[in-house]
Formats: sequence, structure tokens, C-alpha cells
Amino acid sequence: MIETARADDLPRLAELMVGSPLLRRYGVTFEGALGALMAARAAGDGLLVARTEAGEPVGLAWVIWTRALNRGAYLRLLLVAEAWRGTGLGGRLFEAVEAEARSRANHLYFLVTTDNTVARRFYERRGCRHIGELPGLTAPGLDEALYHKPLRPHGDRLPGDGELSARSQQSSAEAPRACAPNL
Ligand SMILES: CC(C)(COP(=O)(O)OP(=O)(O)OC[C@H]1O[C@@H](n2cnc3c(N)ncnc32)[C@H](O)[C@@H]1OP(=O)(O)O)[C@@H](O)C(=O)NCCC(=O)NCCS
Repeated sequence: MIETARADDLPRLAELMVGSPLLRRYGVTFEGALGALMAARAAGDGLLVARTEAGEPVGLAWVIWTRALNRGAYLRLLLVAEAWRGTGLGGRLFEAVEAEARSRANHLYFLVTTDNTVARRFYERRGCRHIGELPGLTAPGLDEALYHKPLRPHGDRLPGDGELSARSQQSSAEAPRACAPNL
């Protein structure tokens, strides 16, 4: 079952994060992860949890909603407990992210450590495009690959943060008229 994380899920999700060899490379600690998850929940980020039939959280997707990059959703983390990998859970979590993000955003963006070939293949099979690399972006010696997946076609885009063109103003009655680029 995949649903929005509850406050009492957060300690288990922080344990899941600390147990991840990938996140340990980024120096993640239990206290740091728990604090970040609590702040994310308070800020209204998307936190989806995948549970076993017994209700135990074994997967997490964390999405930050933004107005940047033509109203992009930023997938900060997709993580499945090692014992559950390869069972389709990651794919179902990613589909749930896309479905929720499509109702609030026009695009999905995320970073993957460049040497994380399993995750890169996973995303590329799901229509995500590698845009380029950001060497050492968040930690020295750890290089990030930037990915993008459009969620809504042109003509069906949600209004951005200020639309410059007449066409985009006509295409959405809700489009704000601020004089700013819509990126
Ligand atoms: C990337 C990740 C979320 C995928 O989760 P998952 O539950 O393994 O995903 P799925 O089972 O839906 O798909 C895994 C794919 O690898 C294949 N696979 C086969 N055996 C596998 C195994 N033993 N372990 C993992 N994947 C395996 C699956 O067939 C599937 O292929 P597909 O992409 O053609 O569908 C998971 O590997 C993970 O948590 N990695 C660590 C964190 C990470 O790298 N996150 C992404 C960057 S934020």
C-alpha cells in the first residue's frame, strides 16, 4: 500500500534512510534524516510511504513542490528497503509520485549519483531523460546526474509563476499576469 506518510512513520523512514549505503555516502545520520523529514512534512512536501501488508514502512518517496523550471516537482529521494528491491515497489512508488506530481506540476526533476547505475537504468526505462552532470554539487567527490521527465504536454500545462505569452494566457484562465518569465 502506498499513502501519504504519517508523523509516526518518520522515525522508521529515518532508519530506512540511515540504513541505505547510498545515503551513508552523503553522511546522513538518524537525527539529520528525522529532522529533515519533520521539516519536510511541516513544509507540505510530498512524502509517500510504501508499506508491507503488516503496515511496516519499507519505501519512501519525497517530492518538493516548486514554481521553478516551469512549475517543476523535485524528487528529492526515492528509496526502497534493500530486502524489498526488485519486487516492483520502486516502480509503484515512482508511478504514485508521477500521479500526484501531475496534479500539481508540469515536470519532474531529480538528481542521481552518477555511478548509481541501477537507479539510472530504473529511471531511464521510465521515460526520464538525462540532461547533464553537476560534479560535486552536494558533497565533494560525489557527482550528480540531472534528470527530467515532462508530466503534462504543451497545451495542458498548469499555469506557471507569471506567463509572458498571449498564447499561454489564453490557454489558462487562471494564469497570473505578473510580468516575469514563466521558468
Ligand atoms: C532505485 C530503487 C528505488 C528501485 O526500487 P525497486 O523496488 O528495486 O524497483 P523495482 O523493483 O520496481 O524495479 C527495479 C528494476 O531492477 C530490476 N531488478 C531485478 N533484480 C533486481 C534486484 N535484485 N534488485 C533491484 N532491482 C532488480 C527489476 O526487474 C526492475 O526492472 P525495470 O526497471 O525494468 O522494471 C531502489 O533500487 C533503491 O532504493 N535504490 C537505492 C536508493 C536510490 O538509488 N534511489 C534513487 C536515487 S534518489
